[in-house]
Amino acid sequence: MKQVKVGIIGFGFMGTTHFRIHSANPKSKIVAIADADEDKRKGDIRKVHGNIGGDVNDFLDLTGIKVYEDGMDLINDPEVEEVDICAPTYLHAKFAIAALKAGKHVLLEKPAALTVEDVQAVMDQVSKSKTCFTVGLCVRAWPEYRKAFELFKAGKIGKIRSALFKRFSPNIDGDAWKNWFMTDANSGGALLDLHMHDIDQVLYFCGKPKAVTTIGTWYKTGIPDHSFTLYHFEDGQAVAAEGGWSAPRTVVFDMSFQLVGTEGTLVFNSTGLWFYPVEGAAEKIDVNVGDLPTGWHVEIDNFLSAVLGESSDQKYLPHADVVAGACIHEAERKSLENKGETVVVNYR
Ligand SMILES: NC(=O)c1ccc[n+]([C@@H]2O[C@H](COP(=O)([O-])OP(=O)(O)OC[C@H]3O[C@@H](n4cnc5c(N)ncnc54)[C@H](O)[C@@H]3O)[C@@H](O)[C@H]2O)c1
Repeated sequence: MKQVKVGIIGFGFMGTTHFRIHSANPKSKIVAIADADEDKRKGDIRKVHGNIGGDVNDFLDLTGIKVYEDGMDLINDPEVEEVDICAPTYLHAKFAIAALKAGKHVLLEKPAALTVEDVQAVMDQVSKSKTCFTVGLCVRAWPEYRKAFELFKAGKIGKIRSALFKRFSPNIDGDAWKNWFMTDANSGGALLDLHMHDIDQVLYFCGKPKAVTTIGTWYKTGIPDHSFTLYHFEDGQAVAAEGGWSAPRTVVFDMSFQLVGTEGTLVFNSTGLWFYPVEGAAEKIDVNVGDLPTGWHVEIDNFLSAVLGESSDQKYLPHADVVAGACIHEAERKSLENKGETVVVNYR
């Protein structure tokens, strides 16, 4: 079987998660990693922490894998066919554009970049490239969300009347490399980093809101750390999302949604995915994950298939939605800064 030769930039929480998933997938072979931290370059990942999922290991075996300090050296390695960018967000646009220019396939972790302009610069390069590209908005591929979308598209709940998406994370202060998430100019805080997944769900299920109203709180380091957003639609769908890192570290990560439609309701919470018909009994939906238990597994498997010519790199995420999501975030950020003033989304 043909294997895609993969290089991973950034060997922290997401890079090591992608490393394990790529290592277990017969469609890929990891040939290189790059990381700024000397210990991680030796496979010592005891300093790696994340807020959801993933195995916990102290060491990863890097035998036979080339190791670089600088992501640009990995990009210029002719053996690398796919560059998997798991570096901090402020480096995304630079690495993605360089990798695309070097003719590589690019899997770019979310959020694609810090600003709409940087996201557009990446997407401009994507449109000039012949290689595959996607952004790690993995919740589209997450089993319960994927299944709910399938049922929604098949007409199971009719037209959406109201929707609520939630993402609740323990505080992550101190977890990442040099604590980069805690600086606004590096991560955009929880409003961009965490809540982008639910902005993307709003787009996925409900389409493009015309305006947003966001209120929220700010962490002591000056990043948005918890937010509530109302999305305004022409046809009056009532849509909202809440998310953040403001809870204490003792809290367990949780994500959920409810989609109320004209023909029934879908609810995902810690008890699973449920369908509530207008009349009759509630039904627990079998999500049937097979050997791809998380959205990360599904997104990576699909991307490898796309590189191998067996699937579309836009199967879950149309490229246009990457820019639209960034524009919605931009409006939410403005609304948050203006204490909940309603802001019209400037789509470009
Ligand atoms: N899709 C998801 O569910 C999900 C979850 C968590 C994080 N993320 C995203 O993944 C990205 C990485 O986040 P993380 O939690 O893994 O952070 P992290 O701090 O754990 O890892 C980042 C790694 O990048 C390395 N690095 C820094 N500068 C570098 C450079 N110039 N070249 C090479 N390596 C460099 C650091 O040494 C560190 O090991 C972020 O964009 C984040 O938003 C996505």
